[in-house]
Amino acid sequence: MSADGFSAAPPPGARPDWTIDQDWASYAPAEHEVWMTLYARQAELLPGRACDAFLNGMQALDLHRGGIPDFERINQELQRLTGWSVVAVPGLVPDDVFFEHLANRRFPAGRFIRKPHELDYLQEPDVFHDVFGHVPMLTDPIFADYMQAYGQGGLKALGRGQLHNLARLYWYTVEFGLMETPKGLRIYGAGIVSSHAESIFALDDPSPNRIGFDLERVMRTPYRIDDFQQIYFVIPSLKALRETTLADFSAIYERLAAAPDIAIDAMEPGDRIFTCGTQAYANAGGRPAGR
Ligand code: PHE
Ligand code: FE
Repeated sequence: MSADGFSAAPPPGARPDWTIDQDWASYAPAEHEVWMTLYARQAELLPGRACDAFLNGMQALDLHRGGIPDFERINQELQRLTGWSVVAVPGLVPDDVFFEHLANRRFPAGRFIRKPHELDYLQEPDVFHDVFGHVPMLTDPIFADYMQAYGQGGLKALGRGQLHNLARLYWYTVEFGLMETPKGLRIYGAGIVSSHAESIFALDDPSPNRIGFDLERVMRTPYRIDDFQQIYFVIPSLKALRETTLADFSAIYERLAAAPDIAIDAMEPGDRIFTCGTQAYANAGGRPAGR
């Protein structure tokens, strides 16, 4: 994950590219147990909810073996499948550092794991979100290409001062994306699959809007970082996502600089509606305080 702003010096102990050793041997048994608990809950919930690419990736990487995965072990399989690897970082890294890693097919992941009393919600991405949520999709060749292209596009958007627009694309695809399949809507976003409650809410709750993916529409829609989303965008397929984002965004950025944002709960003319949400959850105040 990335934090706002420009590159600063890495924290003490980190390399110039902000990576650190995962130091797998130093995890405590209780930390492995947190992984196993989270893994077991999601493995039971996600068949029939997550897309095939995610479920296949989860199997291919054997993410339940021995608790928190050893990055060295999963990287062997990931390298073989798509040439990606996971690298450990101390926490959020600056945007340019993050994009540089993605552009080189490296996914920066936190090494720490949430505490047993934080199973359901935490603000900063931990190793469960980063590895369980993101890495299975990186076994899919098309998604793997998309993520690398996003890294290259991120460096470009940063240079143009339009990262706020591109960040929405990441948010509404990589983090909170839904996909249309012959069997119904499926999840591919890491922020959803790594959350037990949102894996249910994103597909089943009548509150959020669910709208067909449209690149410029997405880039004009703000998002929430602190609660369930009020809108989800549905892609027709990973191939279609890769195709639409292949084009040079320069003309889009020029239009976006002059286009107003769209309210987070608004419907727009031209929206392809899967669900016209009630917004009942958001209007009732959302997540209870303190969670
Ligand atoms: N095509 C985009 C550009 O020209 C780069 C990009 C690709 C961004 C894929 C996001 C995802 O900026
Ligand atoms: Fe993430």
